[in-house]
Amino acid sequence: MSGPERAGESEADASLLLDGIGELVTNAPDGVPPSEARDEWALGIRRDVAVVVEAGRVAWIGPRGRAPAADARVECDGGAVLPGFVDSHAHLVFAGDRAAEFAARMAGRPYSAGGIRSTVVATRAASDGALRANTARLVGELVGSGSTTFEIKSGYGLTVDDEERSVRAAAEFTEEVTYLGAHVVPEELAADRSAYVALAAGPMLHACAPHARWADVFCERGAFDADESRTVLAAAAAAGLGLRVHANQLQAGPGVQLAVEMGAASADHCTHLSEADVAALASSSTVATLLPGAEFSTGSPYPDARRLLDAGVAVALATDCNPGTSYTTSMPFCIALAVREMRMTPAEALRAATFGGARALGRTDVGRVVVGGPADLVLLRAPSFVHLAYRPGVDLVSGVWRRGEAVRGSRGRRHVEGAADD
Ligand code: NIG
Ligand code: FE
Repeated sequence: MSGPERAGESEADASLLLDGIGELVTNAPDGVPPSEARDEWALGIRRDVAVVVEAGRVAWIGPRGRAPAADARVECDGGAVLPGFVDSHAHLVFAGDRAAEFAARMAGRPYSAGGIRSTVVATRAASDGALRANTARLVGELVGSGSTTFEIKSGYGLTVDDEERSVRAAAEFTEEVTYLGAHVVPEELAADRSAYVALAAGPMLHACAPHARWADVFCERGAFDADESRTVLAAAAAAGLGLRVHANQLQAGPGVQLAVEMGAASADHCTHLSEADVAALASSSTVATLLPGAEFSTGSPYPDARRLLDAGVAVALATDCNPGTSYTTSMPFCIALAVREMRMTPAEALRAATFGGARALGRTDVGRVVVGGPADLVLLRAPSFVHLAYRPGVDLVSGVWRRGEAVRGSRGRRHVEGAADD
């Protein structure tokens, strides 16, 4: 049955058996939802199963001990296996860091959107190679902590050339590239905002659109107002891009209503919401993407996820990885914050970090573990997904497979018969 990989066969071609899975989260529930533990039911948990992966896809799921033959075998030792996390909001193309700003904030200084400009200066000064290397480093962290699908935004270049090289750099790592030329008005055009909006909705957008799938706007006091945001979003939609909005992060404002009005796939942050905002989200297909890393690192109140969930709003969780407000690449950390600080159950938080993220990216192929779907899998060194919140700060991820390829797994690989330790 299991054996060493066949000579000349790449790891992606060889079949792999994940055996001894204690708890498999599929996000593909079966049957009628029970009145109790409905959110656990939604995870579609299967126990004591095995999974066979072939040609990058899930080929078989069934009771352990009944699996068909495979080229290699990983013993999961009763660990939990989850769909890879889907991080639908990350700003990974930038240079420099803002540790001093973070320290000052922790000593009481408030966050302001203007801090973005210091990263713009560092990003413009960086070579293409340095920018790419920093993005690659962050992608490595992200994938290593279990994210198998992730979005990357531009937004720290803010000239036509710097935005274009940012989306190009992002496109080297993901198909989910977002053009965020409307992140903030850069210093050199501070006195002529309308010129910058025209640039971001015109030549800059058109230089970036061929490399991007999405456009995003930071609709917030200190960044762009509703009319400016609408101008950029309408131009982006006309250019064929899907829409996303940074909305209601720092205070109440028009961002969520604008996102719904424009049919955006996602309204991100959603920290300061009115009843009308919640109702608008609930009656739309716009996902509310919550980014608790930002509240953690700015010392702000967390969004009320419970209120959104109870109103029937589709919710996603993402890292918002960026050097200003949320310098984390860890979805497990965000899950722990969501459970402890945002009144989400562990099941709701995991689902938002997988299925919810997929929905925020308009993806139906990822965020679930189903036969025929991509083999994007995370193996935990723990018997249950609940440990992601129960054991905060502990790196429980012992294996990550992306489209069937092991991208992390020093522990996992040691269990692959015939594979050398790494
Ligand atoms: O999502 N809100 C806008 N953009 C980032 C912050 C960017 C920065 O401060 O550099 C965010 O929090
Ligand atoms: Fe953001």
